[in-house]
Amino acid sequence: MRFLLVSALCFLLARTASVQAADCGCSGTDCRCCGTTSPVADGEIPQLIVLSFNEAILNDTFSNIWQPLLFDRKNPDGNPDLYVQGFEIGSNSITGNSSSQYWSEATEETLVKEFQGARTPQLQLQGDVSINAYITSGLQYDSSWTSRSTKAVFPYTLDYVDSHCQECRLGTTCPSDTHAGFWIAPIIDLQGNNSDECAALSGCNIRGTADEISAWLLEQVDRGRSSNKAPLTLLVPTGWFRATENSYEGFQKFLDTLGSYNDVFLVSQKQVLDWMNNPVTLDQFQTEVLERTSNCTEVNCRLENSEGQIRYMYSCVPCPDKYPWLDDPLGE
Ligand SMILES: *[C@@H]1O[C@H](CO)[C@@H](O)[C@H](O)[C@H]1NC(C)=O
Ligand SMILES: *[C@@H]1O[C@H](CO)[C@@H](O)[C@H](O)[C@H]1NC(C)=O
Ligand SMILES: *[C@@H]1O[C@H](CO)[C@@H](O)[C@H](O)[C@H]1NC(C)=O
Ligand SMILES: *[C@@H]1O[C@H](CO)[C@@H](O)[C@H](O)[C@H]1NC(C)=O
Repeated sequence: MRFLLVSALCFLLARTASVQAADCGCSGTDCRCCGTTSPVADGEIPQLIVLSFNEAILNDTFSNIWQPLLFDRKNPDGNPDLYVQGFEIGSNSITGNSSSQYWSEATEETLVKEFQGARTPQLQLQGDVSINAYITSGLQYDSSWTSRSTKAVFPYTLDYVDSHCQECRLGTTCPSDTHAGFWIAPIIDLQGNNSDECAALSGCNIRGTADEISAWLLEQVDRGRSSNKAPLTLLVPTGWFRATENSYEGFQKFLDTLGSYNDVFLVSQKQVLDWMNNPVTLDQFQTEVLERTSNCTEVNCRLENSEGQIRYMYSCVPCPDKYPWLDDPLGE
């Protein structure tokens, strides 16, 4: 363990020394320099917030948590939030393997198999290997790279390498090559219990009444909202609602209060990136409304996985032959 820590440190030092901060000269769409300066030069800035749920879509979670929590809400422009948009579906890998060694040692080939929609499991970005695997898998952005609560970085692309902009934190390998047009949507840390920096709400170890939890969440939003208004990505693990008393009610109150602010919008990550490409002021900002319909008549599929175990899965299309997994994402 100690050896690992030391080698990570040496690596960081070596990297900082060898990579020159290139002068970033972005223009046009899908190119944006890393930094804490808002793309809106003049006028009021909308505060965009992405709620990010990290797990597989299970009926229980969907029906009992996401639907009651989110489906009746409206943004300040009168448009519904995430519901009508359809949640944007990202990828947190196929296996979700809980071994951190698996992710730190995975080859690009393995990662492509894992990602083929983006977040690296356990926020363990593996530098250029991860980014190349995303690009090969057709993904357009990563949202796994954390930034300190005191340095609220706006989303940016990897057209230029600026190793001084977003800190490469211990345990993470950061990309050092350029990847034109590929977006990084940073996760700005929160300040948890004892002001510990934390990314996912569950990692912040905040306890209290629903009012206290809600007040803490509002403080986190207000830190950015009263400064540069960089978009926030809140990682909301469903397990937090189960493990921490009053967290569900607290989160609900928090969303209720956000709903009364005229500058706060709950949006998808894609809308954040669209705004970065076309950074309009608050009075011009409009959430996009997609008319989505679904004609799903669900079927319950009883499938065998590669180890011969039985798995159940609901599907809107006819059942696949096999349980979809690595090397066989379509279950063929
Ligand atoms: C999904 O969960 C809801 C609420 O718990 C339940 O009413 C419904 O029957 C479940 N649907 C399926 C397909 O299991
Ligand atoms: C997780 O990775 C380990 C190797 O690090 C492997 O032995 C295990 O089978 C993997 N589990 C899953 C669910 O893929
Ligand atoms: C911080 O954590 C301690 C230990 O778990 C807990 O007793 C305390 O209530 C927490 N404080 C807050 C503000 O959540
Ligand atoms: C849903 O079904 C209706 C009626 O069968 C059909 O008119 C409509 O085009 C379908 N919509 C989609 C998105 O498939």
